[in-house]
Amino acid sequence: MASISCQSSSIGLFGPPAASREADRRQRVGNIDMPIPAKNASQTKDVSWRVRAYAGAMVALAAALSPVTTASAQDSAKIEAGENVFNTNCAVCHGDQLVSTGQTFDLRRLKDGDRARFDNSVRNGKNQMPPWKGKLTDEEIDQVWHYIRANAYQK
Ligand code: HEC
Repeated sequence: MASISCQSSSIGLFGPPAASREADRRQRVGNIDMPIPAKNASQTKDVSWRVRAYAGAMVALAAALSPVTTASAQDSAKIEAGENVFNTNCAVCHGDQLVSTGQTFDLRRLKDGDRARFDNSVRNGKNQMPPWKGKLTDEEIDQVWHYIRANAYQK
């Protein structure tokens, strides 16, 4: 899919305009008068150069795109893992799918800048909330944070 759209866009964006392609074709038709061995040699060279350039462009494009794909796949894996940690440990007080009954803090109110406060409250507990230090790993706490952020009021 990506390679198809990329192929057409590279022709559309970087290929010569139709008029010059037409001129190029006429020029090549004119070359028929040239000695046959010379023409064959130059054509073979020309085609292999294009194939290599195209393959190189594809490799460069794949390399450019892959970190983006990996990052978002990692994020959604983290969010999913965080949902499990939340359902197992937090939902009983903080509500199914983060929907608080009003008895406890609504975790969807946490903003991007509240990470330090979140880490501190979760690790050490707060009033009625037990501390999670020693029960949850740093990685699990990080996963819950990503799950909460993905569902927050203010992204
Ligand atoms: C036993 C019930 C209970 C469980 C289980 C629980 N909490 Fe809480 N949580 C509370 C209560 C009650 C508060 C409100 C504390 C206060 O401000 O007095 C709270 C507050 C919070 C706050 C806000 C603290 C702040 O800085 O104001 C965060 C963040 C939080 N909980 C995260 C979690 C996470 C993450 C989990 C699961 C790992 C969890 N809680 C599990 C009861 C619970």
